[in-house]
Amino acid sequence: MVKQLELNDYKQGVADSYDRRSQTYDNSDWHVQICRRLLEYSQVSAGQTVLDIGTGTGHLAIAAAQIVGDQGQVIGIDISARMLEQAQSKVNAMGLSNVELQLANAEALDYPVNHFDHILCANTFPWMEDKEATLRLWQRFLKPGGRIGVHTPADTAYVGAVVLRKVFAKYGVSLEASNRIGSVEQCQDLFIKAGFEAVEIKTEQHGSYTNLENAKATWEGVVVRPSSTSLKVLGNGLSQLSSAQLAQAKVEFDAELEALQTEEGIWDDLTTLYILSRKAGNRSSR
Ligand SMILES: C[S@@+](CC[C@H](N)C(=O)[O-])C[C@H]1O[C@@H](n2cnc3c(N)ncnc32)[C@H](O)[C@@H]1O
Repeated sequence: MVKQLELNDYKQGVADSYDRRSQTYDNSDWHVQICRRLLEYSQVSAGQTVLDIGTGTGHLAIAAAQIVGDQGQVIGIDISARMLEQAQSKVNAMGLSNVELQLANAEALDYPVNHFDHILCANTFPWMEDKEATLRLWQRFLKPGGRIGVHTPADTAYVGAVVLRKVFAKYGVSLEASNRIGSVEQCQDLFIKAGFEAVEIKTEQHGSYTNLENAKATWEGVVVRPSSTSLKVLGNGLSQLSSAQLAQAKVEFDAELEALQTEEGIWDDLTTLYILSRKAGNRSSR
């Protein structure tokens, strides 16, 4: 893991932000749950080869390694060296010899064609800059009939982000929600366009009520102190707005959220999509 990657500014920013989060990433069990679910849906079995893209601290790679066993192999890749260090220490502590962790950019991978039984990607795919090209690339590495499983929040997720995008759209500023791909239909179209077949999307709702203060904090995280990498301002975005426009946008943002208040709080949607699909070809030929 001493290798250095050549990353553009956007990807370097993503890698840096996960490097910073690496020590505390495992404090929440949210990601573990998602990884378990994706693995369950993907039906990985003993002896198979699995590529875990954006493996992070290795939740999915480790769980997959326990399923594929000694006859199988799991490769976990990530652009954050610090996240991989966390994963590696868990792999070492568990004495797993069938997991290999590699520092690599998911959009510039180089593996043999027709190699993996499964490519899985949890909590990561929305970071990809050219999603269709990335899917086409990954598809090359799958065996004929091999399966892909990708998790993403739907574009209705996270109320603060949804309202912020709506308000800024009126001012001609586009915010890309880096932490999602889109609707069920958009996901379906994307995978079909990238050449996958039998696309199936499973949907789960993990939303809950939040309070106004939390929902409003999205403004701070994206506009005032853009520490959040979950919403990416596209183009010259905010700098094209005058301070008066920005102040007005803030008033509209607050008002939109206030209008969503109920006795229980504000509904914070977290529709979660699991996109399951496969590469064309006969599984029995593998
Ligand atoms: C939210 S974490 C998910 C980690 C793990 N899959 C999980 O669910 O716990 C996203 C991970 O994707 C990685 N990542 C983002 N863009 C990437 C890229 N282009 N190539 C490889 N990894 C990437 C980040 O470094 C981070 O570790």
